[in-house]
Amino acid sequence: MRGVIIQGSSRTEGNTHKISTYIQEKTGFDIIDLKSKNISHFDYEFKNQDDDFMPLMREIVSNYDIIIFTTPVYWYSMSGIMKIFFDRITDCLKVEKEIGRKLRGKSMGVISCGSDSELKKGFEMPFEESANYLGMHYLGHFHTWLDKELISETLKEELHTFLKKKISSV
Ligand SMILES: Cc1cc2nc3c(=O)[nH]c(=O)nc-3n(C[C@H](O)[C@H](O)[C@H](O)COP(=O)(O)O)c2cc1C
Repeated sequence: MRGVIIQGSSRTEGNTHKISTYIQEKTGFDIIDLKSKNISHFDYEFKNQDDDFMPLMREIVSNYDIIIFTTPVYWYSMSGIMKIFFDRITDCLKVEKEIGRKLRGKSMGVISCGSDSELKKGFEMPFEESANYLGMHYLGHFHTWLDKELISETLKEELHTFLKKKISSV
């Protein structure tokens, strides 16, 4: 099954990217950097349909069965960039419903990247509940952090174990 890493950092080549790159090494999945896309906030009147969101969603539902979201922890939550992406998934339920239907049965997981090992409770809930709401299979969550700009060998091993457990092709 083909997979994609959807990266939601405010830095294209920051800490979360280091994690995305490690996941790519282990899975062979493509990386999509949301920061490089022009995706505007959700609009109740759907007057933003000419931005990059819908073409990106079409690409995702047509090409991939597994989606791994990688996001930094900003203020105890997913990044703003990633939250906008989730808000816009509403467009797939209201405007291009066929795209929303195609999400059903796909798998999604989330990898967070914070400043240290501590992650406050509640971080994971929006991902798990969104997967449930969209009829997607939720693979779970794994938390990461960097130590002097590097992913420690222990964390690498643990992340690899998580990926092997969740993704049959790893
Ligand atoms: C706006 C902002 C808010 C942050 N809030 C948190 C936080 O609540 N918890 C945490 O552990 N780290 C927090 N951090 C630290 C980042 O999660 C951490 O440095 C992460 O590795 C940054 O990844 P990036 O380089 O992809 O942005 C915050 C950083 C920024 C810039």
